[in-house]
Amino acid sequence: MMRPPSNSAAIPAPLDYASGSIERWCADFVLATDVAAKLAPRSAPDPRRAEHWTVAPRALRLAAPSRPPTWRVTSRSPSAPRPESLRDPAARARLWHTFAHHELQAAELFAWAVLAFADAPREFRAGLVRLCEEELAHLALYRALLRRDGRDFGDEPVRDWFWQRVPTCATPASFVALQGIGLEGANLEHAARYAAAFRAAGDEEGARVLEQVERDEISHVAFAVRWFARFRGAPLDYDAWRDALPSPLTPAILRGRELNRAARRTAGLDDAFLARLESEPLERGVAGSEARV
Ligand SMILES: [Fe+2]
Ligand SMILES: [Fe+2]
Repeated sequence: MMRPPSNSAAIPAPLDYASGSIERWCADFVLATDVAAKLAPRSAPDPRRAEHWTVAPRALRLAAPSRPPTWRVTSRSPSAPRPESLRDPAARARLWHTFAHHELQAAELFAWAVLAFADAPREFRAGLVRLCEEELAHLALYRALLRRDGRDFGDEPVRDWFWQRVPTCATPASFVALQGIGLEGANLEHAARYAAAFRAAGDEEGARVLEQVERDEISHVAFAVRWFARFRGAPLDYDAWRDALPSPLTPAILRGRELNRAARRTAGLDDAFLARLESEPLERGVAGSEARV
């Protein structure tokens, strides 16, 4: 689904989730137009408590997130600064902005999935809430680095690339295939590569944040691997994963230059899977700058 850039989401009619429910929190977050409510929302209601969940909710597929009116939404990807330029705070800040925006989209898409897959097991949807909050924590880490380097979120245009792809997933299995095994899997490569680049540029603080994100993302990929197998009723295999990706996405854009084998293995991707993934041609442009969650 390709949509023109816009700051306003199509508001569904009417949002009848009860105040204090998890579904209401998810909808309020995705549709927030206030900067604080978008970047640092209050904590979600505890998903372990049954009374926080809406009884028999209807599936709600939000088509797009709302954006604060001061943000510039673009359809073009900004060029990524080269690793050699990372001693320059302005170049670093552009990357932190991009990374923070990827985290924001990931957080929103987990909230989106809570609403879209209303019939999925409660345990799965509770996991989505937890992952949403971890993405918000990553966003906060990158935003702190962005501010350290003299900028803040909203200073650069944002391109909602993940939002143009992930909501085309028709089922929870397809969602975890793309968001978790695909995009978050690729992020294992990107986080490790950029951690090394920031360290080489003398930014140890930045490198450590990327390593923290990488550790957390291993558990996000593991969540996706586990649930993909449960939805399918069989262990993950490469062909099943590829077939679950929504057209026109293919595995070629869902990997980094050098596979982060150690991280991917820890997440539950076996050697047979990794050998198939490694044999995919690398497509520039997406894997390099966009496929990061
Ligand atoms: Fe993240
Ligand atoms: Fe993640």
